[in-house]
Amino acid sequence: EKGGYDHFMLKEIFEQPKALSDCLRGRINAEEGTVTLGGIEGIMDQLVNARRIIIAACGTSWHSGLVGEYLFEYLAKVPVEVEYASEFRYKEQLIGEGDVMIVISQSGETADTLAALREAKSRGALVLGVVNVVGSTIARETDAGVYIHAGPEIGVASTKAFTAQVTVLTMMAIKLGLYKKTIDNKEAKKLIGELAQIPAKIEEILESTDEIKEISNLFSYAPNFLYLGRSYSFPVALEGALKLKEISYIHAEGYPAAEMKHGPIALIDEMMPVVVIAATQHTNDKMISNIEEVRARKGRIIAITNPGNEEVEDLAEFKSIVPETMDVLSPLLTVIPLQLLSYYIAVNRGCNVDQPRNLAKSVTVE
Ligand code: F6R
Repeated sequence: EKGGYDHFMLKEIFEQPKALSDCLRGRINAEEGTVTLGGIEGIMDQLVNARRIIIAACGTSWHSGLVGEYLFEYLAKVPVEVEYASEFRYKEQLIGEGDVMIVISQSGETADTLAALREAKSRGALVLGVVNVVGSTIARETDAGVYIHAGPEIGVASTKAFTAQVTVLTMMAIKLGLYKKTIDNKEAKKLIGELAQIPAKIEEILESTDEIKEISNLFSYAPNFLYLGRSYSFPVALEGALKLKEISYIHAEGYPAAEMKHGPIALIDEMMPVVVIAATQHTNDKMISNIEEVRARKGRIIAITNPGNEEVEDLAEFKSIVPETMDVLSPLLTVIPLQLLSYYIAVNRGCNVDQPRNLAKSVTVE
């Protein structure tokens, strides 16, 4: 059942090229520059006219929502707010007609997400779902939606669902951008062409895991980890930290790289592993200065970066290289080494990777 892998989590990490191919299949056309998403074709007018989009989700799905915020704002120029589903209900309810809520849930059964969905719906917002489990409660109660088609995710730590959620949000943002003419056909072709190559690029990352294993072996007994990223890599930093916390029980924090100087930099000393995600062109110079700040305080730098990024490579003590892609698509690649890092560390520590303590695969209580 684990297909020769020691754990479901590892199997699901390695399944990502296939999961994303399945997710993309029949939906994108790179030659034409088009995206077809059967589940939302009928509500595109409402989506185009949305005053704003509110994304509600929990945990890893909330992180993919944060990536979605960058995608929708950049490609479709629509304001997006990302809410913890559990907090949404306790805020002043300013949502209503003309707003669109997108709920993201692997299981489709998360109680907090379901409650946010019901609240938004009762106030007249259009509610869309980005869900994995077909026929789940969230899938049934949303007005429309797009399945991620990642296949069953058994490991408690979410991996392939995250990348498939980001893939769906990318397709939705491209589609919306085309409708709103905030991107043209040429840009859409480029984006879709690059998106189509993501599964093969993930395969490439998964073919050589030696560097990550070596880093895992060195830092398996670190009491703390810091993850830093900017822009599209900021949600990836949060996701990397969550993965490590939940399966290896190491305290880890994800931060926007520039926030470091407003507090967390005080934590850095020669004992602190700092994972920096430096694989987007538009933030490269700024990331380099952040890496220098960490280095000056003797933090142990583990860089996730692209081939040929010599400045980052020179500054980092350890590195893991992911293939180049467009900045907007980079989370789909940069998260992979972080999933592997948390997996190998948890295994080294003898943790129950597929069923970490205190956690359940689907959280059906508020
Ligand atoms: C993290 C994890 C949880 C879930 C969260 C939401 O690895 O598994 O944080 O992401 O409980 O679950 P879904 O997506 O099923 O609503």
